[in-house]
Order: sequence, then structure tokens, then C-alpha cells
Amino acid sequence: MIELKDVRKSFGDKTVLHSISAIMEPGKNNLIIGTSGSGKTVMMKIMIGLMSVDSGQVLYEGNDIARMSDDDLKKLRNQIGMLFQGSALFDSKTVEQNVMFPLDMFTNKTRREKIRRVNEVLDRVNIKEANRKFPAEISGGMKKRVALARAIVLNPKYLFCDEPNSGLDPQTSLVIDKLITEITKEFNITTVINTHDMNTVMESGDHIVYMHQGRKRWEGSSHEIVFSEDKDLNAFIFASEFLQKAKEMTVLEEQAQANVPTQGPAPAKPKRRGIF
Ligand SMILES: Nc1ncnc2c1ncn2[C@@H]1O[C@H](COP(=O)(O)OP(=O)(O)OP(=O)(O)O)[C@@H](O)[C@H]1O
Ligand SMILES: [Mg+2]
Repeated sequence: MIELKDVRKSFGDKTVLHSISAIMEPGKNNLIIGTSGSGKTVMMKIMIGLMSVDSGQVLYEGNDIARMSDDDLKKLRNQIGMLFQGSALFDSKTVEQNVMFPLDMFTNKTRREKIRRVNEVLDRVNIKEANRKFPAEISGGMKKRVALARAIVLNPKYLFCDEPNSGLDPQTSLVIDKLITEITKEFNITTVINTHDMNTVMESGDHIVYMHQGRKRWEGSSHEIVFSEDKDLNAFIFASEFLQKAKEMTVLEEQAQANVPTQGPAPAKPKRRGIF
């Protein structure tokens, strides 16, 4: 579990994070959403320790990263996987060499063990027979999958993904979301995802933090978001007229279901109703 306690951050006289407190839970996709400039990337950089806080704390399993010894910080870094915006693969390295890089850097495994682990994770993200290819020779969706394989190669306890779907078509985005969700559940990872993607929010938002102008404005699940009455959140999520109508229909349907008189025992409540 990662906990942010009263985190504040300014650049010069501009405050970009105003007293953020939030918990990122294990085995869940913890989504940070919000318009461009709302502070998502700064918050993520602070969580990974790439940026320091002005005040407040970031706790990993109760331990403040600002107070960790160099040794503990190194151990923590080995438990963190990161999927960067734009994949950030090394162009001059093959797929295999890219995924092997963290194993070369942080482990003493033999070459045979490393190859076995690389093939295991490439297989997990459904990449086959591409070990010898260079990033320029594979598609954007494949690059994301290779980057995801690299992010999980060290069996991370924490996985950070900054805009994992940027530049992908909606179908490929769903494949990536599904993979991240499966891996998160399978290995009980604390996954934090920055996203603008409406599909990601609806499909994989176990726990969502909505940022607005550097403040945490709303927090809840993908089901609860449909019923939120926050004006800015609605404008952000249900930006198109179509989505606004879909939301209204879902809310109406939920209300109708709640008002239908029933005979006998009440039927089990479905998890989701309406369009969402
Ligand atoms: N190193 C920096 N120096 C000064 N200002 C910065 C720095 N990094 C971020 N900012 C400012 O902090 C604010 C939040 O930026 P951030 O990158 O976190 O937004 P974001 O929510 O990730 O946006 P996007 O959706 O466009 O990625 C912005 O106003 C940005 O200009
Ligand atoms: Mg960002």
C-alpha cells in the first residue's frame, strides 16, 4: 500500500499540488485522472521519489520514502516497475535486450536464467517471435506490451503507468488495460495509472482519484463515478453529448430499478446497470 499524506508541491509561486492525501491499494488499479496540467505526472513522480515534496509524506507500507536509508531506497526501487508515456524503449537494443535491461542492472542471474525470465514475461504479454526485432520494427501496441514486459520483469510490488494508452487505437488500448488489470490481480501489485482514457476509467477503475487544479476533488470507483454529481468531474468524464446521455440513462435506469415494487425476496443487486 502507498499512502500520500498532506502532500504539497510548488514550482516558484505556482502551487501544483495542494494538500493531497490518498491511498493506493494493492491488487487494484488505482487511477489518477484529471485534465491536462492538473498535477497527475507530478504526483506520480513524487510517489516514485523522482521529485521531492515541499511538505507531507509518501509512505510505502508505512515507511516514509524521505526518511529511508540508501539501502532501503535501493530495495524499494527494485520493487517498482514503471511504464513510461511513449514506452521509452532503447532504440538501439532489441526487444529481448530491452526487457533484459533491468535484470542486467539489478540482478546477478546467469544469462540462461535471464533469457528464461525475458521469455516468460514476453509470453505473458503475448509477444512471440520478436526477441530479435528492434523497436522501430514493431507497432505502437507491441512497443507498449514490450515496455510492460520490461516493467514487470523484476516482479514489482508497485507498478506505475503514465498514460499507458497514449497514441493507441481504442481496441489496442483495451488489450493493454486488460493486461495491466490481469497482472495487477495475478501478482497483487499496487498499480497506479495516470490516464485521460474514458475506456480505462470505466473498464479498470477499481479506485479512482480525480484531480482538479492540483487538488483531489473526488475519489471512488468506476461504478460510483456514473452517479457523481460533481460538475467538473462530469464535464471531464462525460465530455461528449453521447456520453452525457448514456450517463443520464444509466442513472434513470438505476432509479427505476430501485423503485420497482417486488414480490417475494428482492433479486440480487447486479453490480452494474445501464450502459456502464
Ligand atoms: N519541473 C517543473 N517545473 C515547473 N513546473 C512544472 C514542472 N513539472 C510540472 N510543472 C507544472 O505543474 C503542473 C502540473 O503538471 P503535470 O505534468 O503534473 O500535469 P498532468 O496532469 O500530468 O498533465 P498532462 O495530462 O498534460 O500530462 C503544470 O502546470 C506544469 O506546468
Ligand atoms: Mg502528465
